[in-house]
Amino acid sequence: MLDFVTMETQLKDNRTELLRKIKNEIVAGKHLPLYKERIKNKVFPVIGEGSHYAKIMFVGEAPGKNEAEQGRPFCGASGRILDELLASVGILRPDVYVTNIVKDRPPMNRDPLPEEIEAYVPYLDRQIEIIQPEIIATLGRFSMIYIMNRLGLASQLGSISQIHGKIFTAQTKYGEVKVIPLYHPAVAVYNSNMKDGLLKDFQTLKVFK
Ligand code: URA
Repeated sequence: MLDFVTMETQLKDNRTELLRKIKNEIVAGKHLPLYKERIKNKVFPVIGEGSHYAKIMFVGEAPGKNEAEQGRPFCGASGRILDELLASVGILRPDVYVTNIVKDRPPMNRDPLPEEIEAYVPYLDRQIEIIQPEIIATLGRFSMIYIMNRLGLASQLGSISQIHGKIFTAQTKYGEVKVIPLYHPAVAVYNSNMKDGLLKDFQTLKVFK
């Protein structure tokens, strides 16, 4: 019979193993619509980063230039804003999990196309099932629309200006999850009013830390 330490180690290894499998599939994913672009630009896919046991998962849109160069989510200007927002509520980045709906950078930072979202979201769905976050905080319109539709909240979907900062409850295979739509941190890079709004919305995360 397994003792508790061994069981815990096995569970830990399993999450890490399952997430590594996703990474390997994306890295080798020649069928992915932005694979050629990734190879042409000699950049990396951005899978996700953070605790495999995170209570809060942030879902952004797609990697930008810095992210694709480093293979890490939110490590450029938007990432600095995200770090500030997290710090404002005393949440440490390593304690959360940060990922995107699209795992490769769209050329010229354009919006992801519907077929790109469709091709990459099965990986996000699996990341959610493995990590089992209690809170999914969407960053920006694209991830808000995808997550709310995916989790059966389509009837409560509105424009991001109407529903940002609100808390929605959804049921998943692994239990209840709260969905909190947030503006994308990029909106605050040159706009201090938007930043104030984001700071206010981030306060909703405080009760969940
Ligand atoms: N914007 C995103 O949506 N994701 C990142 O990882 C970086 C910028």
